[in-house]
Amino acid sequence: MANTVLYDDGVHKNILLEDFSAGGLAVQANQHLIIHDRVGMILDPGGHKVYAKVLAETFSELSGGRLKYLFLSHQDPDIVAAINGWLMTTDADAYISSLWTRFVPHFGFDHIVADRLKPIPDEGMVFDLAGAKLYALPAHFLHSEGNFQLYDPISKILYSGDLGASIGIDYMVVRDFKAHLHYMEGFHRRYMAANRVMKAWADMVRQLDIEIIAPQHGALFPDPAMCRQFIDWCARLECGVDLITPTFKIPVG
Ligand SMILES: [Fe+2]
Ligand SMILES: [Fe+2]
Repeated sequence: MANTVLYDDGVHKNILLEDFSAGGLAVQANQHLIIHDRVGMILDPGGHKVYAKVLAETFSELSGGRLKYLFLSHQDPDIVAAINGWLMTTDADAYISSLWTRFVPHFGFDHIVADRLKPIPDEGMVFDLAGAKLYALPAHFLHSEGNFQLYDPISKILYSGDLGASIGIDYMVVRDFKAHLHYMEGFHRRYMAANRVMKAWADMVRQLDIEIIAPQHGALFPDPAMCRQFIDWCARLECGVDLITPTFKIPVG
């Protein structure tokens, strides 16, 4: 698969990088790049296995431009494991929930880059990418306690992180929502915290103009109707603490 351009108006470009992780033990993960006027933000750059390729691809897409931001939706290794490499080889600042800034350095951090890992406050923030505004939206407990999604109002793409993840598929675009549920349901029931949080998230994102929802794993939702279907499904889903208590039994030896 080659890089997929999700949006391009000549100044603003959204690129889904080629999948470099297929076929391994590690879970498949998508890396996204947003470029505005030759200034870039990479989202959830991933771990060591894909680091060299994602870095090379990022600079080839930037073609002489500069990487300004590393956006880290949460603290999982498939997102932040290679963060030291990214900070050492670029001038970009990395942003992650304030809950995780003191945990990420355990992945191994060179002193000289430590002050370039910056906190996103619980209420979220707005990034300025060469004049383009990008919104870090609170999506806590979906699944991480300190978790953000990124909304780009120019391309109208909502980068939803682990929410909307699908596992074990060989397509990158959802065409049949019902058939696709099979690849999302188990993950969302177990990883997402509770229906109450899903509903709050749905109420927030229904106010946005969304063309595409692009998760960090698996296929994306390619049009407004499909995005609405996905949001409605989330708002109804029982998950996490809604379902977990019956499994709290002493295991049989
Ligand atoms: Fe995660
Ligand atoms: Fe993930």
